[in-house]
Amino acid sequence: MRAMEVIIQPNQEAAAALVARIVAHDLRANPHLVLGLATGSTMECVYRHLVRLHQTEKLDFSLCSTFNLDEYVGLFPSDPNSYRHYMERHLFRHVNVDPRNTHLPNGLASDLDAECRQYEAMIQRFGGIDLQLVGIGKAGHIGFNEPLSALRSRTRVKALTPTTMKQNAPLFGGEDKMPRRAITMGVGTIIEARRCVLLATGSSKADVLAQAV
Ligand code: F6R
Repeated sequence: MRAMEVIIQPNQEAAAALVARIVAHDLRANPHLVLGLATGSTMECVYRHLVRLHQTEKLDFSLCSTFNLDEYVGLFPSDPNSYRHYMERHLFRHVNVDPRNTHLPNGLASDLDAECRQYEAMIQRFGGIDLQLVGIGKAGHIGFNEPLSALRSRTRVKALTPTTMKQNAPLFGGEDKMPRRAITMGVGTIIEARRCVLLATGSSKADVLAQAV
């Protein structure tokens, strides 16, 4: 059984700064770090801190590799709502990560199940994820895994639940304009990471976080 530590910080800024420092510490200890990444508004602050550490302390991403938790099905990387676009906007283009070492599931693959299997295989080829960042949705989802997802689940296609559709629809200008499916790492994929940091901020996440813990 692995140890879990709950760290409470006075505000969102301090919590995000701490997560960025954890990433920086692990990256300095192992420049070839395999880093698992998440999207969402909570993570924006973490990426801002990482960009600042790159600019002011020369935090070096040149040898690390990244794997994101999830991506919508059917969106082009250039679509402002795709998670690839989010990552470029908030982190990748501001640091010296090698674009060839950044990975997100391909939601445009013609065979989505094969894409999921390949994504899992690629994580294994890179030696597994060393440090995985995760956020949590208001209804308890991690990636696109809803609270009752099997603990052994692997990367797969998931239909978005009505709650998730509602939560994310404003970004797309309405539910009718948003994808109904996404590829997500499974819970099994996520908990196999050597270290996992879950960041939740704001009172609206308090109950769901308590349940998750
Ligand atoms: C996205 C992801 C999601 C978000 C969650 C919280 O890659 O994994 O589980 O972490 O929806 O999103 P925010 O931070 O916007 O509340």
